[in-house]
This record gives sequence, C-alpha cells and structure tokens, in this order.
Amino acid sequence: MSEQQPSKTVRAVLGIDIGGTGIKGAPVNVDTGELLAERHRIDTPQPATPEAVGRVVKQLVDHFQWQGPIGCTFPAIVHNGMTLSAANVDQSWINAEAEAILAAATGLKLKLLNDADAAGLAEVTFGAAHGKKGKIIVITLGTGIGSALIVDGKLISNTEFGHLIFPQDTIAEKYCSAKVKEDLDLKWKDYNPRLNAYLQHLQLLFSPDLVIIGGGISKKADKFIPEMQGLRFELVAAELKNEAGIVGAALEAAATFGV
Ligand code: BGC
Repeated sequence: MSEQQPSKTVRAVLGIDIGGTGIKGAPVNVDTGELLAERHRIDTPQPATPEAVGRVVKQLVDHFQWQGPIGCTFPAIVHNGMTLSAANVDQSWINAEAEAILAAATGLKLKLLNDADAAGLAEVTFGAAHGKKGKIIVITLGTGIGSALIVDGKLISNTEFGHLIFPQDTIAEKYCSAKVKEDLDLKWKDYNPRLNAYLQHLQLLFSPDLVIIGGGISKKADKFIPEMQGLRFELVAAELKNEAGIVGAALEAAATFGV
C-alpha cells in the first residue's frame, strides 16, 4: 500500500510588472520561479497616475483572487518606497509614496522595486547569472534602458546606467534603447555599432565580468551578440525573457515579508 505524502506548501507571491503600455501579473512559486497561473495583462491606463495604476493593480489582485503578499516593479528609481523619477511614465510619480499608494489600493502587503532590478534578481536566482561570482550588469533594452548591478550575487539597486550621459549631450537610452531602434527604423547593421559603443563605455567605467541583455530585444540575441567587438567580458542574453520582472518582484517581496 502506498503511503500518502503530506502535501508541501508552495511559497507563492503575486508578481506584478508595471510598464508604460501594459501591467502584467501572475502568482509565482518563489522556490522554482515558475508561474502558478497564466500571466494576466491589462493595458496601462492613460494618464498613468498612481491612483489609476493602483486601480489596475487591484484588478489584477481580484483576477487571481489573491490574498497574500505582492511584489511589484516600476520603471523608475524606487527608493524607500518612493518613486523618484519618471523618464517614460506620468510625471506625477516623481516623489510619490508609490509603495504605500499601491498597498492601500490592494489592501495587501506590497513591495515595490525598480523593473531592471527585478529582472536582475530573477536572472541571479534562476537565470543567466545564477551561481556566478564577480561583477554582473543586467541591461534591459526596451522603451528605456534599465540596469541592475550584481556583485557576488548581491543586487546593488537603482544604478540607472541607461541615464549615463552617452555618447555626448544625450543619455544612453535616447541613443540605443530598443525604442530608438524602432523609432529611427535602424537595421541591425546600423543599430549594433551604437549598442557596441555603449557596452564599451560600460566596460570602461565598471569592468564587469558578465553582461546580460534583457528586454524584448533579447529574443533576437543572435542578431547582435555575435556582432559585438572589443569586449573583455562575457555577453549573453537574459534567460527569463518576458517573465523576469514578475518573478524578480515576487522574489523581493518574499525576502521582505518572510514568505
Ligand atoms: C528608468 C529606469 C528603468 C528603465 C527601464 C529608465 O528610463 O529611468 O528606472 O529601469 O527605464 O524601464
């Protein structure tokens, strides 16, 4: 007669990824990084004020009938629960008590962090940076450029390397984000030298051991990674793709609230 195994409790957190066009969420098993239900996406409201975004976050909570803690990303500097910048989002987020506003909108415990930092945490825990020592930079190429710095497995938050003045009189994200490629209709042969120059600049400043490229563009890694030259570090595509923000946010909340 087979003995029945006691069912193991799954440690789960609702991960939510707030972006300029969509707000996506799913419950995450924080031990494996697996999504426990299909991702749900709602259009970002326009204007995307903290209150309007709060209502959408609450809709996601209701969709999953969620009652536990929430981890949530935001595409700006997030320091001590406040959003301090708003490069590609509504200006009303500057100096907003964003974490408290979103927690109040849901009535649940909520941890807020920068979107690229979340992607970094996801990559270090389950992806391309897993088990790696040294200095790792995760760069997300999307509407803007996000960054995460990981040193010996530990995240150094809010690095904002997309806002480095580069190449001159502008910032890196206005020169080589995925949006710039699209807006200027740059072919890979015209875009790649821009990305290459930016990566060489990061190398000059930080001497990383590994750089991981995330964001939607990482699905086309074969179009740019083999073309990069003069780099002393290993360059790879992110492994978590679309789910990195959701998973990383869930991990941060799990660590914060002791899930
Ligand atoms: C913001 C960052 C964000 C990145 C990617 C930048 O414009 O300043 O905080 O991580 O876009 O969304």
